[in-house]
Amino acid sequence: MNHNSASHPFVLDEGAWEAPYFLAPVAGYSDAAFRAVCAEMGAALCYTEMVSAEALVRGHKKTKILLERDPVEMAYAIQLFGANPATLAAAAEMVSKYKPVVIDLNCGCPVPKIIKAGAGSALLRTPEKIGEIVRAMRDATSIPISVKLRTGWDKDSINYLETAGAAIQAGACAVTLHGRTRTQGYLGQADWEAIRDLSARADVPVFGSGDVFSARAAIDMRARTGCAGVMIARGAIGNPFIFAELRESGDAGEIPSRRVAETMEHHLSLAVQRFGEKSACMEFRKHFCAYTKGLPSGAQLRARAVRCSTFEEFSQIFKEMKG
Ligand SMILES: Cc1cc2nc3c(=O)[nH]c(=O)nc-3n(C[C@H](O)[C@H](O)[C@H](O)COP(=O)(O)O)c2cc1C
Repeated sequence: MNHNSASHPFVLDEGAWEAPYFLAPVAGYSDAAFRAVCAEMGAALCYTEMVSAEALVRGHKKTKILLERDPVEMAYAIQLFGANPATLAAAAEMVSKYKPVVIDLNCGCPVPKIIKAGAGSALLRTPEKIGEIVRAMRDATSIPISVKLRTGWDKDSINYLETAGAAIQAGACAVTLHGRTRTQGYLGQADWEAIRDLSARADVPVFGSGDVFSARAAIDMRARTGCAGVMIARGAIGNPFIFAELRESGDAGEIPSRRVAETMEHHLSLAVQRFGEKSACMEFRKHFCAYTKGLPSGAQLRARAVRCSTFEEFSQIFKEMKG
């Protein structure tokens, strides 16, 4: 493994390393309101969803809303995607004013439109390009730069040591490894052995991602792979409680309906304040469905929630759930 030349190391408050569990970048979910809820529950760091470097540089107004953070979110990370080193460098410089802990480069997105543009997991095919981009970003800002990788393009081209090595040599301060190939998408089982292998070899913190659906699984991932931190994506959607459980070191069992309703109400009110009632309520429908998965009478509640367009309408459901 190449040696690190990170001029800006990855730094979190000391206490955060006691429970280094992070909210992953999740497009369509990891907005400022949900990140605030996860931060309050105890997530040590929350990532924005992937933000287009191209759109930022062009001054696209809607893109900026993805970057704003709630005051309760003391530490957050911004993730950028793109393919052009100069554009990513300019975007990294632009987002530095938000003072994220780290600016992360997306090298994992499997969506065809993104890949066609040479971004996301397309970058896995050219490790030297990852190095070039990281170097350009690093030279453009004093905020540390990290990368988020998949294990490789497909099972015949597993190359995480190479891609991580290129990023680290170019100055990346940390690497997240989602233990799947691009071809796997989100199917199959994540390869924790690859996370263990990279964690053992890299001289920067390695964060593991993939298949952490419970507090117990997050603790297991750390124990089995020796990774420095665990990133949680699908396991946190509708379940920010996972971060509270991790603070308290274990699975808490079923979350009572009342607590789910109170948390949703808080989440939605933060979203309304930030994004306006109409947009927040439309977006909240999918969160509601995730929060109520597995709850008694969840199906009936969801059938009503998918028609709600005002805070008041949602509040009526929350009230009933609180009993
Ligand atoms: C709906 C959805 C959106 C995602 N968006 C992003 C993203 O914007 N950036 C990124 O690096 N990964 C993204 N991911 C990948 C996750 O961050 C994570 O690496 C992956 O889902 C595996 O973790 P999990 O098993 O905890 O879900 C996304 C995943 C899902 C399911």
